Amino acid sequence: MTNYLIETQDLTKQYGSQTSVNRLNLHLKAGRIYGLLGRNGAGKTTTMKMLLGLTQPTAGAVYLFGMPLRGNEKKILPRIGSLIESPGFYPNLTGTENLKIFATLRGIPNAHSIQDALELVGLPYRDKKLFSQYSLGMKQRLAIALAVMHDPELLILDEPINGLDPIGIAEIRTFLRSLCDERGKTILLSSHILSEISLLADDVGIIDHGVLLEEESLAELEAKNGRYIHLSVSDAAQAARLLETVVHTTRFQVEDDHGLRLLDLGLSLPELARTMVDSRLELYDLHLCEDTLEDYFKRVTGGEGIA
Ligand SMILES: Nc1ncnc2c1ncn2[C@@H]1O[C@H](COP(=O)(O)OP(=O)(O)O)[C@@H](O)[C@H]1O
Ligand SMILES: [Mg+2]
Repeated sequence: MTNYLIETQDLTKQYGSQTSVNRLNLHLKAGRIYGLLGRNGAGKTTTMKMLLGLTQPTAGAVYLFGMPLRGNEKKILPRIGSLIESPGFYPNLTGTENLKIFATLRGIPNAHSIQDALELVGLPYRDKKLFSQYSLGMKQRLAIALAVMHDPELLILDEPINGLDPIGIAEIRTFLRSLCDERGKTILLSSHILSEISLLADDVGIIDHGVLLEEESLAELEAKNGRYIHLSVSDAAQAARLLETVVHTTRFQVEDDHGLRLLDLGLSLPELARTMVDSRLELYDLHLCEDTLEDYFKRVTGGEGIA
């Protein structure tokens, strides 16, 4: 029924009177990295928990690998690796020992899987270091190693690079990318940091107050980032009239009493300046602007930016 690896239909979660996830329709294509971007409290973790059957939706449905999750959990869930909350590793054991315990618990037979998983995330296999001595970055990598240990087709990672330093982020990015490009995995990850998502994801979903505001490829999102000519003058209304009657363009927006945005990038800046000045308008500023992803996020969420 669906070409998507993950699809949700009006997925909703209510806690008391609060709607934490509101009629979410998510679409994840196979072999891609999808970034769910939203501020703290936007509903990312709740969404992921519902995708993994860890919490029941109040309404709506989850489809994974083309099947409804409900009733197919035993078939579906083993095909997913996840990192939602910290897995509860034993502090007085090494990383390898910790993974061995989880492997035994989960009935993962292949001894190589532990070694492979550790190698993938860049942690040593034979190491004396105890988990309690791990840096935050190493802890996070071990958690991801645990998620990939059984070689799942789909990875659901909640804020996988939260709290990591730039080098740690770059390393995780590299191996998530290779999981996707070389091993054909599909990855859903969340973040409240726009720059992380823009570096990692192929597709982006923007969630705010439980609502999915936009869903598109990073390329589309970047293309939408407006380029415009910004004009600052003594009287924006008069400038607007001049644009229509003299410059013959209607592709502009008046921002306030003094500011205008011209979307017609074919216009010549010197000519524009001359037109304004010839009509005795004070021209304070005229320049070509480019919205950042940050501006875009502000625009679609109608609020504060995101780090
Ligand atoms: N178990 C719960 N009980 C009540 N409210 C919850 C519960 N889990 C999450 N919430 C609320 O749902 C909203 C979304 O939370 P969450 O999914 O954790 O957001 P995010 O992961 O984007 O930070 C928040 O307002 C949070 O307080
Ligand atoms: Mg969260």
